[in-house]
Amino acid sequence: MESLFPALYILAAASFILAIKWMNSPVTARRGVLIGELGMLLAVVGTLLRHEVVTYQWILVAFFVGSAIGVPIAYYMPMTAVPQRTAISHACGALASALIGTAEYYKRLPHGFVMGALVLETLLGFLTCTASVMAFGKLQEILPTRPITYRGQNYVNLGVFALAVVLGIALIFHPEQTWIYPVFMTLALIFGVLLIIPIGGADMPTVIALLNSYAGLSACAMGFALDNKLLIVAGALDGSSGFILSIIMCRAMNRSFSNVLFGAFGTIQTSTTENAPRPVRSASAEEAAEILDAARGVIIIPGYGMAVAQAQHKLRELYDVLSKRGVDVRFAIHPVAGRMPGHMNVLLAEADVPYDRLFEMEEINADFPRTDVALVIGANDVVNPAARNVKNSPIAGMPILHAYEAQTVMVVKRSMSPGFAGIDNELYYLDKTLMLFGDAKAFVGSIVKELSTAVAVR
Ligand code: TAP
Repeated sequence: MESLFPALYILAAASFILAIKWMNSPVTARRGVLIGELGMLLAVVGTLLRHEVVTYQWILVAFFVGSAIGVPIAYYMPMTAVPQRTAISHACGALASALIGTAEYYKRLPHGFVMGALVLETLLGFLTCTASVMAFGKLQEILPTRPITYRGQNYVNLGVFALAVVLGIALIFHPEQTWIYPVFMTLALIFGVLLIIPIGGADMPTVIALLNSYAGLSACAMGFALDNKLLIVAGALDGSSGFILSIIMCRAMNRSFSNVLFGAFGTIQTSTTENAPRPVRSASAEEAAEILDAARGVIIIPGYGMAVAQAQHKLRELYDVLSKRGVDVRFAIHPVAGRMPGHMNVLLAEADVPYDRLFEMEEINADFPRTDVALVIGANDVVNPAARNVKNSPIAGMPILHAYEAQTVMVVKRSMSPGFAGIDNELYYLDKTLMLFGDAKAFVGSIVKELSTAVAVR
């Protein structure tokens, strides 16, 4: 029986690698999720069959309690709450890793390399746990979402972290000094809280990707401490993919890690607007429908407002009705549109918008000058020309979708309020731009109605 375990673990590790590969594209993503689940099942079964298991009683209790919490969350948590759901999962995973590390420490008081791995595992585990709980609180708006800052904050935070590291090193050399452990553990838990306090709620998705990476690294260190190769592989995959994802998100926002972690983004709501409101051109659903009907090519740009309004199904109807009338409709997806990676892709997939109609920024930007209408649905920062034209703008240098190059621009949003970066958008004041004021779902619904009645009249 024991000889079966390496084979099971190799199969599980291969499944995890394939899962990450397949989740790269919406076409293969479902397959990726399934193989990932299968890999996890193999890993769990393999672990449960090992001779180290002392009693199954408590494992069964944990299984039922965990399922009773996890299954309803999976079914009832709305799509827009995925970032906080992910945060709370990380908190649980990191806590599990840190508690196993703690148990191993008191049981074995290990020395040398194993103690080093245990220190890393528990440090990352405890800090990720409290940081993830804080991130959950900010995203769920249980805690204040704005960044909370005070003078010398970075020094305080670094001081606490440095002290935890020094105590961790002391433990590696003197594991028998058990009094150090609770102090080390408390500092790690406090650091997790301090780390998140200066970060604004809207930056949390990036931070969660980073915490994902920490939780993975903690599991990887646990693999070294327990001599479990599957944990090393799975933890390393989790750690590296979370890290790469946070780098991609930072790049797409043209922000550095330090700016996200220490920049308190969102405190200064810079605005390029003068006090007096500037005139814009607005239009009704009927006028918008006429323009869309006359177009040959339309590029739809969804953003955070589409997610808030849950307008994806209405957009699908708009796509259907326009396509039937011979209009070439495509969707342009900015990598950080919305508030989490792949936010737009997931929502449009939920509404069954064909994958081959979704285009990444680099693929579609060159087509805007040849496009009759750029239809912006609840997007703001990702189409803001200030990123290219205004040097000191908070989004300066962020790559944007070139909606301003289309022949006509139509923007569906409720007011002239800014987006995530808190800045005005020059796109709204262009002569060729029409503002379609209203809730995205309601407004797109009205356009669809207008177009459908026009078909009926014809
Ligand atoms: P935003 O710039 O945040 O703009 C969203 C716009 O949607 C707002 O201007 C808002 O205007 C409008 N809106 C809100 N509710 C609406 C509704 N019910 N109906 C119609 N419009 C509505 O969104 P974006 O262009 O998608 O940009 C995303 C921003 O988030 C970027 O700055 C990005 O860096 C940041 N960010 C993204 C991520 C990821 S991973 N996606 C992570 C962290 C931060 P009104 O209030 O006037 O309606």
